[in-house]
Amino acid sequence: MTKTTRTEAPHTALGFYHKISHLRSDTWNALTHDLADVLRSEKSGRTRRLVKAIGIKLTRLEIIEDYHAFPSSEDFRHLWSLFNQRQYAQLDKVVNRLVRALVSESYRRRPIDLSDTDAEDIENHDALARFRRGHPGFNSSAQPYFEVLLVDNLSFQEDEVVRDAFYRMRREEDRFVYDVVTVRSFEDALIAVLVNPNIQACLIRYEFPYKSKYNLSAIRRTLEGLSETDLENQSASERSIQLGAMIHQLRPEIDQFLVTNGEVETTASRDIDHFTRIFYRETDYIEQHHTILRAIDNRYRTPFFDALREYSRKPTGVFHAMPISRGKSITRSHWAGQMIDFYGINIFLAETSATSGGLDSLLQPYGPIKKAQEYAARAFGSRESFFVTNGTSTANKIVVQALVKPGDVVLVDRDCHKSHHYGLVLTGAYASYLDSYPLNDYSMYGAVPLKTIKRTLLEYKRAGRLDEVKMLLLTNCTFDGVVYDTRRVMEECLAIKPDLMFLWDEAWFAFATFNPTYRPRTAMNAAGTLRDRYRSPAYRREYAAWKARFDALDPDDEATWLEQRLLPDPDHVRIRVYATHSTHKTLTSLRQGSMIHIYDQDFRQKVEATFHEAYMTHTSTSPNYQILASLDVGRMQAEMEGFELVNSQIETALSLREQLYNHPLLKKYFQVLKNGDMIPAEYRQSGVETFYDRHRGWHQMEEAWAQDEFVVDPTRVTIAIGNTGVDGDQFRTDYLMNQFGIQINKTSRNTVLFMTNIGTSRSSIAYLIDVLIRLAKDFERRWEDSGRSERKVIEHRIHSLTRELPPLPDFSHFHDAFRPSAGDGTPEGDIRRAYFLSYDDSNTDYLRFDNGALQRELEEGREVVSASFVIPYPPGFPVLVPGQVISREIIDFLQALDVKEVHGYRPELGLLIFNEQALARTPNH
Ligand SMILES: Cc1ncc(COP(=O)(O)O)c(C=O)c1O
Repeated sequence: MTKTTRTEAPHTALGFYHKISHLRSDTWNALTHDLADVLRSEKSGRTRRLVKAIGIKLTRLEIIEDYHAFPSSEDFRHLWSLFNQRQYAQLDKVVNRLVRALVSESYRRRPIDLSDTDAEDIENHDALARFRRGHPGFNSSAQPYFEVLLVDNLSFQEDEVVRDAFYRMRREEDRFVYDVVTVRSFEDALIAVLVNPNIQACLIRYEFPYKSKYNLSAIRRTLEGLSETDLENQSASERSIQLGAMIHQLRPEIDQFLVTNGEVETTASRDIDHFTRIFYRETDYIEQHHTILRAIDNRYRTPFFDALREYSRKPTGVFHAMPISRGKSITRSHWAGQMIDFYGINIFLAETSATSGGLDSLLQPYGPIKKAQEYAARAFGSRESFFVTNGTSTANKIVVQALVKPGDVVLVDRDCHKSHHYGLVLTGAYASYLDSYPLNDYSMYGAVPLKTIKRTLLEYKRAGRLDEVKMLLLTNCTFDGVVYDTRRVMEECLAIKPDLMFLWDEAWFAFATFNPTYRPRTAMNAAGTLRDRYRSPAYRREYAAWKARFDALDPDDEATWLEQRLLPDPDHVRIRVYATHSTHKTLTSLRQGSMIHIYDQDFRQKVEATFHEAYMTHTSTSPNYQILASLDVGRMQAEMEGFELVNSQIETALSLREQLYNHPLLKKYFQVLKNGDMIPAEYRQSGVETFYDRHRGWHQMEEAWAQDEFVVDPTRVTIAIGNTGVDGDQFRTDYLMNQFGIQINKTSRNTVLFMTNIGTSRSSIAYLIDVLIRLAKDFERRWEDSGRSERKVIEHRIHSLTRELPPLPDFSHFHDAFRPSAGDGTPEGDIRRAYFLSYDDSNTDYLRFDNGALQRELEEGREVVSASFVIPYPPGFPVLVPGQVISREIIDFLQALDVKEVHGYRPELGLLIFNEQALARTPNH
């Protein structure tokens, strides 16, 4: 066998970087199996087919490994030489060592010399200690490892020299250890940062070509919009700068360094923000080495966690509150010692109410908390970030209170989290509710279409009251994973009202910042992009051309505003964007750890003071330090390995979906909802129905994410289970939890939602698949063993769950008594007034709908008005808010719900409503 097989179909192997790490490990594993088979069949002489398969796998792997430091190209030369000399037994041995090093990640702790046939693989303590003594650079498992990408068109020999120079820089006292990966073209550099998460720093040298030697499609979308000829004709320094900008787009956390052979001073003065530092080519390796280490250290630091650890080691005498601090109240306890047994002592050493002595005050941070929040702002692309220790429920109330006052109008999606509704009650701002599109077949809502938002804004414009509309509040992404095109929504809204503020509830979306496909749809990234866009001369030209076209249509006709894509006036637009993250839901943080991220051009001038007051209103004066420390560590982890973790979360989810799509028995009972099932065609401009196709695998996800009004986050896997005849709630409790200990937290009448997260492993997915197969077999058996009448019952249940679904009700409207501007047709309501009116029980009555009493009142023409929030779980949002008129559709929906938990509803009494005297007494404003 010669090396001719090495050019076979490389693009199919690397076509989709989302699956690259699974592809990598699976191919290495398959190679070990093929080698074992060859060795077994050698005596029979029938090895041709197997040998060919090995050659193909080696070819594939060589392409992937070209972008990783281990195994190196030297290692591959060794593998090919064994292969070409047909030394399969030796090849088998070397490949197995290599796979062990990859799986155990021992290559991060010491160099692996594959040509050393007697090398010791066992990582026992003594062997490592012996090894460390001989290799000062690779000295400790506590010394984190990363890879530096070197972009330069080096010959093999030159590469050896450069790498060797970096190796010689290693010192035992270095905080980190790194290896070097060299790529020789623009395209290869982009692929490397996509497929190799170990890359944390990048040294871009000069005079490298544009094209990769491989024909790879992984970067197709990234390069879209850039003409290849332009790129090929660029000067060397322009190309380096362009590469830096693109790497920044894909992985903004990577520290980049430009090595220039030109005038370093002129290069440094150009717009090259993406580079941490510029080196002249003669800069010595020592300086480069230390600069790289320092840059990584800057991300790796955890100011508050470090301060807390430091504090916990200091001897202190406690003469104020908090007996548990330093474990004092429990270490000598006869009864409560088990707390220490369970948690260990450190958590109590770190429990303190001190705000000095190296610590800080969350309410007025000046030290490590301030630093930690600044680092969070860097990581999430905000201008300011604030830690919150009582979840996003509190974060939302802080932002709402900071931004709006009584009488301001807030456009808000009706099925948003209850904290927003309560926030409006607290502030006295008026709620103008927006309806999401319903998914009646699955008893769940999607998200609010842009047209609905524009139409509502235009209603206020028509009424001459646009100045009262202060904020648009939406959930990105929804619990079920529907994600907005945040840029487009903000752009078009700002064209109608240029200073509109936005609060994006991203409770479920903190992780999205760390993936290049997801990131553009995050609020902070969109805010930064829009701000840059509106400041550019190119946008002024685009706007002028658009305005001329728009004015030539009929700008006085609302339909023009609704139908046309709108652009804001660059002279008036202000970017004022807020996002709240439940960091604890999708990244590393203790429960309740949340963050508020702000990108508001007017923050200092207009909001800082009210934000401070709102923060004081809702923040405990005894914030939990462990939560704060975990937020600090969570941020650090996301900056160091968020890209890798999120990518592997996506890979894992895609493989779960793939198995559910393809397994015949699973398909029969569990139907995975695809993009097209959850996003109606009118909101899918790309036309992409599914990201997966049986023959082509995973593709088109990027297309949909780049173009569509809404997309589904594939890491949230909603499965329709109507064909099982079991409803969502029962399936969760009786089947998944009680039988198999599988926890989920969202169901609808006929769906269950499986969420993957950065901690989900391939084996937990395998377990889930196994459980679902067992359940499917049980359902199969139940059917086979049933008699005619039992089958009728099952069929009836299935019919009810798949066909008889109550349509989801829209928000009806506020009663006129709570509509401050009922006369001009705008829909907002004074929810606070209604809420507090119910405090006096002479204003309210109960009315039952299970006995038809409420329905009779409706038939007689009475406007029955809710005096409370009514929130069924699921779906978990208020179907009624105080002051809302109760419609027939809402009653039908409540009657059809078969959930046990309905907050604000007392079955024995009915719904709390306002009596007619109370409504009559309430003046119309
Ligand atoms: C959209 C949304 N926002 C906010 C919250 C509240 O977040 P937390 O649990 O961090 O208080 C949730 C909780 O589920 C949510 O789904």
